[in-house]
Parts: sequence; C-alpha cells; structure tokens
Amino acid sequence: MRSALAALFLTAALTAPAGAADDEYDGLPPGEHRDLVFAYCGACHSNKLVAQQGLNRERWDKMLVWMVEEQGMYPLEEPDRTYVLDYLATYLGEDR
Ligand code: HEC
Repeated sequence: MRSALAALFLTAALTAPAGAADDEYDGLPPGEHRDLVFAYCGACHSNKLVAQQGLNRERWDKMLVWMVEEQGMYPLEEPDRTYVLDYLATYLGEDR
C-alpha cells in the first residue's frame, strides 16, 4: 500500500498538465467530475486507457474494485468514489 501511494504522488507530480488544449484530458469527454477522474485515474496509466473503455455502471464498479485489489490503486473515499462512478457510467457508458 505504501508503494502504491508513493507511486500515486510521484506520478501525479510528473504528469502535471503542460497546458495542452484539446488533448489536455487524454480524450476524456467533458462532463461533471471529469477533473476528479482525470486526477485519480491518470496516476498510473494514461486516461486514454479509461476513455477508450465503454462499460455499464456495474462493470465500471467492478473495474474500480479490480483496480484496487489487483493493480494497487488507492481506494477511493466517498463521496469521490460515487462521483467517479457517476462520470464513468454517464460519459463512458457501454452504448456510446
Ligand atoms: C495504482 C495504479 C492505478 C490507478 C490509480 C488506476 N489504475 Fe487502471 N490500471 C492499472 C494497471 C497497472 C492497469 C493494467 C492492467 C493490465 O493490463 O494488466 C490498469 C488498467 C486499466 C484499464 C484497462 C483494463 C483492460 O481491460 O484493459 C482501465 C479501463 C482502467 N485501468 C481504469 C482505471 C480507472 C477508471 C481508474 C481511476 C478510478 C484507474 N484505472 C486508476 C493501474 C491503475
């Protein structure tokens, strides 16, 4: 857990936006809580990996669990977890 946290902070520091215009959010569509998703999910991998997925809410939920249990993601606190899930299910749903 400690190494995951360190990685999170390290990567966050290294990936501070350089002021790019359109590509600033790595392809994440505009929407409520995008900043939150961008900050949390871009820590270990590009948000393009997130943006290219289309899942329903239940599968996004499982993806977050998998990210924590298998990939070392720091667990999201409420209400952030709900906000992140809201964004993912709304703007990166399976039928887009
Ligand atoms: C602690 C690091 C870490 C964080 C933070 C993180 N991920 Fe990941 N994620 C990974 C790793 C590692 C993989 C690659 C797993 C693999 O392909 O074996 C991955 C892969 C993925 C994939 C691709 C899965 C697939 O089937 O190819 C998606 C989608 C994803 N992450 C979504 C997210 C979302 C959404 C968040 C934010 C809530 C997030 N990740 C935050 C580590 C992280």
